[in-house]
Amino acid sequence: MGENSFCLNGKVAAVTGGAQGLGLAMAQALAKAGAKVALLDIDMEKCQAEAGKLESEYEVESLAIYADVRKLDQMEAAVAQIVERFGGLDIFVNNAGICKNIKAEEMTLEEWQEVIDINLTGVFIGSQVAGKQMIKQGGGSIINIASMSGSIVNVPQPQCSYNASKAGVIHLTKSLASEWAQYSIRVNSISPGYMKTAMTEKTLQTDMAKDWWLRLTPMGRPGLSHELGGAVVFLASDASSFMTGADLIIDGGYTVW
Ligand SMILES: NC(=O)c1ccc[n+]([C@@H]2O[C@H](COP(=O)([O-])OP(=O)(O)OC[C@H]3O[C@@H](n4cnc5c(N)ncnc54)[C@H](O)[C@@H]3O)[C@@H](O)[C@H]2O)c1
Repeated sequence: MGENSFCLNGKVAAVTGGAQGLGLAMAQALAKAGAKVALLDIDMEKCQAEAGKLESEYEVESLAIYADVRKLDQMEAAVAQIVERFGGLDIFVNNAGICKNIKAEEMTLEEWQEVIDINLTGVFIGSQVAGKQMIKQGGGSIINIASMSGSIVNVPQPQCSYNASKAGVIHLTKSLASEWAQYSIRVNSISPGYMKTAMTEKTLQTDMAKDWWLRLTPMGRPGLSHELGGAVVFLASDASSFMTGADLIIDGGYTVW
């Protein structure tokens, strides 16, 4: 192990849904640790602006790529572009995700499917395209953004498709860790609790959030996106070299109650 096992100098990382929120904050943490970072998103305007800022703020090379995590061809092309530009791919963060708060008895199949397609199938596609490249290279680290909703059921809002998709991500992570340990690819997940991002911002201002979300969180506050930075650098780097198939819950204590 080197002097600073958290150092990512010379490594190449990619983050799906990296144009804003938790994905962007994790991309910033990876860049700060020295990695070159590709942002993959469907919002190209934000993606390009943020990739430019990564280059100027952290003095690392960056790339903005249009890629919908549901589309295998776009994700394959994204990895090919990263490898061509940076010479490889060492760290892949499957972060893109959506949530729909719809009662189970009222949800259409299309609404159910959209959440599963982005949150679960998207993680499989991202892992497969990154995994194939990492097998060729002789190793890498894949980090899947699940949620505490993969272990508990949030209350009071209904979100069965989200919860099921995130439970799927946690078990897919363990399955890939098992299959790919032989190729020196580590696969772990991070499960955040309530974090302040565009996904939750409006709801966090309501009495419902104060009465339920924050009262049920021992630390009594939502997480801030930069508070996942340490975990993603840890899982991406040699500091976690004996860790695979694990789920790191970062939730202000929500799941202990
Ligand atoms: N915010 C929270 O409280 C919280 C808690 C636990 C887990 N998470 C998970 O963290 C991840 C990021 O959440 P966030 O709060 O930053 O969300 P966000 O809505 O702020 O950002 C999501 C990003 O993903 C992109 N995206 C959406 N669909 C995509 C697709 N099909 N292909 C590529 N990119 C796509 C969006 O354009 C956006 O840039 C999600 O997987 C979410 O489920 C969030």
